[in-house]
Amino acid sequence: MRMNLPVSEHERTFPREQRLISTTDLNSRITYCNDAFVAISGFTYEELIDQTHNLVRHPDMPPAVFGHMWETIKQGKPWMGVVKNRAKNGDFYWVSAYVTAIYENGRISGYESVRSVPSREQNRRASALYARLRQGRAA
Ligand SMILES: Cc1cc2nc3c(=O)[nH]c(=O)nc-3n(C[C@H](O)[C@H](O)[C@H](O)COP(=O)(O)O)c2cc1C
Repeated sequence: MRMNLPVSEHERTFPREQRLISTTDLNSRITYCNDAFVAISGFTYEELIDQTHNLVRHPDMPPAVFGHMWETIKQGKPWMGVVKNRAKNGDFYWVSAYVTAIYENGRISGYESVRSVPSREQNRRASALYARLRQGRAA
């Protein structure tokens, strides 16, 4: 589990109509990301591309969430979840992510995440759940 530090208490937000999109290869290396994702991440496109996606991992995210995500998408099933990401300077931003497999010739060749702004209620519930998971308690 990659631990990206430092973190700040400053939240970044993005417009409701925007979608933050990235694609990866099978090993989570970023193969594409759109301008909106680049902008909020604080990294440049060049800093993001070819890096593993845990570059934007926030330390508040419980490992089990990503474990469940990978288990699901490797089976070709879509996964939805609320994720807290870390910007390059340590700020955070919440996303509602929809992650799906990309197929080529009938085989999974990579993955795509399309992220939108989560509701306040989604954020509140995810924050509380992830705090419990970090303390080692059951969901
Ligand atoms: C298409 C795709 C998008 C992803 N987007 C994110 C993301 O926005 N934030 C994040 O922390 N992890 C994301 N991940 C998961 C990371 O690859 C990684 O599993 C996670 O950050 C946990 O890091 P760790 O492997 O160091 O524990 C994504 C994975 C895929 C396949």
